[in-house]
This record gives sequence, C-alpha cells and structure tokens, in this order.
Amino acid sequence: MLFTKPIKKAVTKAFAAAPFSLDKQSPIIPIRHMKFDFDPKLLDPKFYMNAELASAYFASLSIFLTRGEDLVIDTARYHRDFITDPLLKQRVTSLIGQEAIHSKMHEELNDAFLELDLPVKLFRFLAGYVFEYGLERLPQPMKLSLMAAIEHFTAVLAEYMMNHEEIFFRSQDEKQRAIWMWHMLEESEHKDIAFDVYQTLSNNYALRIAGFFPALITILMLISAASILVPFYRKPSNLVSLKYWKEIPYNFRLIFGLKDGVYGSTLGHIFDYLRPDFHPNDHDTSEFLAYYKEKLLNPETGVLTPYMTKEFYPALRS
Ligand SMILES: [Fe+2]
Ligand SMILES: [Fe+2]
Repeated sequence: MLFTKPIKKAVTKAFAAAPFSLDKQSPIIPIRHMKFDFDPKLLDPKFYMNAELASAYFASLSIFLTRGEDLVIDTARYHRDFITDPLLKQRVTSLIGQEAIHSKMHEELNDAFLELDLPVKLFRFLAGYVFEYGLERLPQPMKLSLMAAIEHFTAVLAEYMMNHEEIFFRSQDEKQRAIWMWHMLEESEHKDIAFDVYQTLSNNYALRIAGFFPALITILMLISAASILVPFYRKPSNLVSLKYWKEIPYNFRLIFGLKDGVYGSTLGHIFDYLRPDFHPNDHDTSEFLAYYKEKLLNPETGVLTPYMTKEFYPALRS
C-alpha cells in the first residue's frame, strides 16, 4: 500500500500521451503506376541469395502482403475522413495509392507463381484465414494500431534491403528485382504516414504496443512457419527428406541470423517501436532514398524505368 501511490504516479507518467505534433512529417510522395508483365518461365526460384527456402519466405510474404496491404488501405481510407491537417490527408492518399499498386502488382507476381503450379492457392487460403477470421475483424482503433505496426515492419524490411543492395543483384531475374526494389523504396518513402495518422487520431501508447504483436507474429513467425511447412518450390514429400531439413539452418540464418539476417540483425530497430517517444523518422533513411531514387528512376539507367508507366502527386485538399 505504501508504494501504491508513487508506482501509480510513475506508471501514469510513463504512459501519459505527450501531445503529438506533426513537425516530423515528410513531404508529399508520388504514386507510381507499374507494369511488369511477369513471365512465369523466367521467375528465379532462388531469387533471394540463391537460397530456395529464403526465397520461399519472400514468395510467401508476397502473398500475405497483399492482404496486409488491403487492410492498410481500408483502415487508412476509414480514418482519412477524421484527419484535419491537409498535408497529412494528402500523404494518406499517397499511402493508399502506393499500397493499392503494391497489392495489385504482387497479385500479378503471385498469379505468375500459380501458373507454375506452385501452392499459391494454399498460401492465399492461409493468408485469407489469418486476415478474414482474425485481423480484419478487429475494431477500428486496433486496426489503426495494427496498420501503424505493419508499416513499421515493412519500413524495417525496406531499410535492411536498401542497406544490402547486393541481394537484389545476386539473381538475373530482373522483374523480381524490380518489384522488390520498387516496393522497398516506397515502403521507406511512406514509412511515417500510418504512424502519424495513429498518433494524430489516437496517441495511445498501450494500444500502439497491442498492435505491434499481431504484426510481429504474422510477419516473422506465421509466414516463416508456413514457408517451411508448406514447401513452396518443391513437392510436399520433401518434408520427409533429410536433405530438405538440412537446408533449414542456412536459410534460417539468412532471415533470422543475428549477424546479418533480415530480422535478426534489425532487432534493435524492430523493438525500438516499443519506445514511448518512438517516431519512424528517428531512423533517418533520407540518404538511402536519394541514392535509390537515382538508381531506380534515372530515365536512362534506372532499374524501374522500363516498368514505370506513370507517376503523379495527389492534389492537396483542405
Ligand atoms: Fe506495400
Ligand atoms: Fe507500406
């Protein structure tokens, strides 16, 4: 009883929402239309570091991401009406536009995998189950928090990928390279928008943390487990072959290795989200963005130049 008051005071202080200001918000970002026309025959099953299971993780991520993006789009559309800041409102329109095209282009990639008789239908069923019976049924405030958390994970992934540019050039598959580089560029460009919407409309720390864990479990655990237990590029009979399981430690290291794995080496960034005064722009990627915009969008040499059909900025409305 003696300590109840000071503890209560400390907890209240820790969870007290400091007034949120939009002074860290980034400038307006464009919406880019793309046309990849994937040829199933040319898809490299070892696109990611010449490693089949790690590549399967990204194929599986490509399928789950379309559902995550649809949730982000619906949630952002619903909450856009409550935003009064014209710049933030416009940035939300850019976020919706970018995610809509990501979802559409990844569906085209997934359809190309399907044409190769890969288990896309099964992964779509699994992703559908997670989203239709779970995440999409959450109340709007929780979906708002989940949207910010999903965008945090894609921002971490984007920063890792931009930091390891060589990964994209290990394979000759130019179209998988282009779709992932374009997607990562845009995830980094819009990494603060969902967070700014969350903070502007909710600014509730406990709820923000509550949204972090379903995103963590889905992106890191469920998708990884699914891509091991449902061999994407092989017959299910491989599950009983020792050779298949022997490949797991190396592929696991590529994704979860603490030294330079996608998520293992970025744990500091991932869990920085739990800091009460965290903001996505505390992780400055402006130099990377400038470098990649030149590398990807240069009219003569850009990796994306052959595939980009249109680029525009949504209108600013008050
Ligand atoms: Fe996306
Ligand atoms: Fe995103």
